[in-house]
Amino acid sequence: MKESQPSAIYLKDYKVPPFLIDKTELTFDLDEATTVVTSRLHMRRNPLDGKSNAPLILDGGEDVKLIGVAMDGYALPPEEYQLVDDKLIITATADSFILTCETLIEPQNNTRLEGLYRSSSMFCTQCEAEGFRHITYYLDRPDVMSVFTTTIIADEARYPVMLSNGNEIERAKTDEGKTVVVWHDPFPKPAYLFALVAGDLAVKNDLFTTQSGRDVKLQIFTESHNIDKVDYAMEALKRSMRWDEEKYGREYDLDIFMIVAVDDFNMGAMENKGLNVFNSSCLLASPKTTTDDAFLRVEAVVAHEYFHNWSGNRVTCRDWFQLSLKEGFTVFRDQSFSADMHSATVKRVEDVSFLKTAQFAEDAGPMAHPVRPSSFIEISNFYTLTVYEKGSEIVRMIHTLLGEELFRKGSDLYFERHDGQAVTCDDFVAAMQDASGIDLTLFKRWYSQAGTPIVTVEDTYLPEEQRYLLTIKQETPATPGQPTKLPLHIPIRVGLLNEQGQEIQAQYQGEHSTDVTLLLTEAEQTFEFTQVSSKPVPSLLRSFSAPVKLRYNYTADQLLLLMSADSDGFNRWSAAQQLAVNELTQLIEQASSGQPLAIESQLVAGLRSLLADESLDPAMVALILALPSQAYLSELAETIDPLAIRKARQFLKVTIANALSEQFAQTYQNNIITSDYQPSAQDIARRSLKSMALSYWSETSDDKVKAAIAEQFANADNMTDQFGALSIAVHSAHPDAASMLNAFYEQWKNEPLVVNKWLMLSASQDADDALAVVEGLMAHPSFDLKNPNKVRSVLGGFGQNVAGFHKEDGSGYRFLADQIIVLNKRNPQLASRLCTPLTRWKKLKPELSVKMKAELERILAEDLSKDVYEVVSKSLV
Ligand code: ARG
Ligand code: ZN
Repeated sequence: MKESQPSAIYLKDYKVPPFLIDKTELTFDLDEATTVVTSRLHMRRNPLDGKSNAPLILDGGEDVKLIGVAMDGYALPPEEYQLVDDKLIITATADSFILTCETLIEPQNNTRLEGLYRSSSMFCTQCEAEGFRHITYYLDRPDVMSVFTTTIIADEARYPVMLSNGNEIERAKTDEGKTVVVWHDPFPKPAYLFALVAGDLAVKNDLFTTQSGRDVKLQIFTESHNIDKVDYAMEALKRSMRWDEEKYGREYDLDIFMIVAVDDFNMGAMENKGLNVFNSSCLLASPKTTTDDAFLRVEAVVAHEYFHNWSGNRVTCRDWFQLSLKEGFTVFRDQSFSADMHSATVKRVEDVSFLKTAQFAEDAGPMAHPVRPSSFIEISNFYTLTVYEKGSEIVRMIHTLLGEELFRKGSDLYFERHDGQAVTCDDFVAAMQDASGIDLTLFKRWYSQAGTPIVTVEDTYLPEEQRYLLTIKQETPATPGQPTKLPLHIPIRVGLLNEQGQEIQAQYQGEHSTDVTLLLTEAEQTFEFTQVSSKPVPSLLRSFSAPVKLRYNYTADQLLLLMSADSDGFNRWSAAQQLAVNELTQLIEQASSGQPLAIESQLVAGLRSLLADESLDPAMVALILALPSQAYLSELAETIDPLAIRKARQFLKVTIANALSEQFAQTYQNNIITSDYQPSAQDIARRSLKSMALSYWSETSDDKVKAAIAEQFANADNMTDQFGALSIAVHSAHPDAASMLNAFYEQWKNEPLVVNKWLMLSASQDADDALAVVEGLMAHPSFDLKNPNKVRSVLGGFGQNVAGFHKEDGSGYRFLADQIIVLNKRNPQLASRLCTPLTRWKKLKPELSVKMKAELERILAEDLSKDVYEVVSKSLV
């Protein structure tokens, strides 16, 4: 362990920047080994700061070498500046001046993938959140917005494409024959939105005419062997641009919009002004190499980054505590876009299922934090499900409270009022409140209070008076640093069904409706419905109107009724999940205590009628058929017994499969598509149902299924079907699974994104020597420790390997800890994210818990990056 540990910074300590940078002029003399960066910063004291003598403190990094610094052309001698803890401190400055700084950086040795680095044959940058300081000394904070001009000098033969933000304004040759390209971005922006790319890249061009009739040039750049895989992203981009005009009245502002795909990238993608940089896994798509899920992800990420042009770039964050201002809102926008492009109910189920599995687990663990955190050690650790997904749920609740029209008025006001500014979550809510006249004072507590509220509902029906009372309580469990919690403003959408499953037209607050939104604002409240003709079955929290855990004692019959008859498609899924959770909970208890497993499954009956109902969207049928995941059941468990959960799931799956074997075989056949592959909502839906049916069918002893799997694998004309068959073969111990895995690798070894899928599936396969298999994968020629996608594939796959990862001797945990230690300094962001499974140690059953904890302690004894230190130390508290 280090002598002194990194310390936290606090939202309450926010101060305006003492200096501003009106213009930033950068010159990059690009070279793999040593790149020279020259900056000319047009600076002045911030009038809002009020102090006339505050020193100038610029942010830098240990990997930035300062060559020289000058003020208004006067080279500062060493005694006039100081370098302390990566900061450049200049004590005496004028009120306005030009600061020139020359630094050396080593892109080739940059394994952190922050700042300027190399990915395959190209140069690229990642500056959010604090990557720019790894390029040059700067006021690297989002409330310092500047107009950037960027000059790139490089060897044209190797780097014919040289890009930065804004418009290309000049192109020339140096005396030594190098090429000089100058880019200018007229929109002031914080440094985190800066980008530079250089490489020998292929380009796909297109054009978009905005609603006001301006032509925007669209360009997607990739390495030449991938340029045949960008058509889908280009179409998705145009759909996004149109959608943002229609839904939010937001038009694109520059004359050119560029996207570049890079292979080595820590996250999904980045919204740099006019020059988005993408992890190639979120951009490239072709039917033969890309699954349906990945197509949808490409569309969603393209939309997300594009939408940031307004929610993030034109209006940005004052400080990083406000990250959800742009991320929560932009996730809400991309979710709404995908809902409009495909099926809204399917999209909602997928998003909620993810939230309830992963964000709820985060909210219940040691890293729990409010959507607007009040402190952090390393901001990279706060690009979380809470900031993104729960942040989006908060915006969705505002949308529910205001309704479509007032919400739009609110967003118009927000963009208009704050265009060109760096603002806070409070500013966002204020715009929504001012535009709508709806008081959101109490609602704002959602931003500052961490943890998932538990909402408990009890009901009473008074037949003589035809009255129905819902008593709703809320309680939020304590989270680290927040021992006591206050009531939140929770919108709860409710409908009432009679025993035949028809909607009851009850009266609530004087109005007749079949769907009302109850506003819970206190710890306990009773809501009254009148003219209720018969005892209702309540359909609660429709469309998941708030990110809470709902408790109501439904009988199995009530759940079956909701599952088959609720007009809210989301709640049909939700009822089926609840029924499955109830049955699985019994089975998990049996497995945990060593009893034989047995269940009178009522879910089977529900699923039988579901499969028989041909009016349903096949995608919804597939979602309802999917049993609650291992991860979700772990989140729900008081104490996690991983193998008991796995055994229970498997038992229920086999029970369902055997009971409905013929229906599954038939559903499989009915959903085979003979026309050419299309990633359309309709076809994706049918493939997902087909795959779900095959997966159940594979659990039966029907000998025809093995042939069906092998056939689908061999003859598929698209990756969804091919990989679907392969996964089912691997997980159902198909006799040919091993040879299919090999054949798959041989077929796709030159397609890295497909190899990633192979790595992940291979690492997840159940085997006595699972750990040895994973070690073999990391030594495989296709593996590369520099590439985050590969690391995540193998270690993510291993994380899903229940028996291998949770082996009683702790070897699975030890292996993961070893990898974290190796990556800790090489790539802190990646290493830190890999810690997530270990942060759940407290909930594991005692034998496993001690082993996992010991690994966290072993990691903590190392000389750690801030990123890993924060997660590991907080997890051990
Ligand atoms: N702003 C990006 C997005 O959500 C995420 C980039 C975060 N990168 C990072 N290294 N923390 O679209
Ligand atoms: Zn984002």
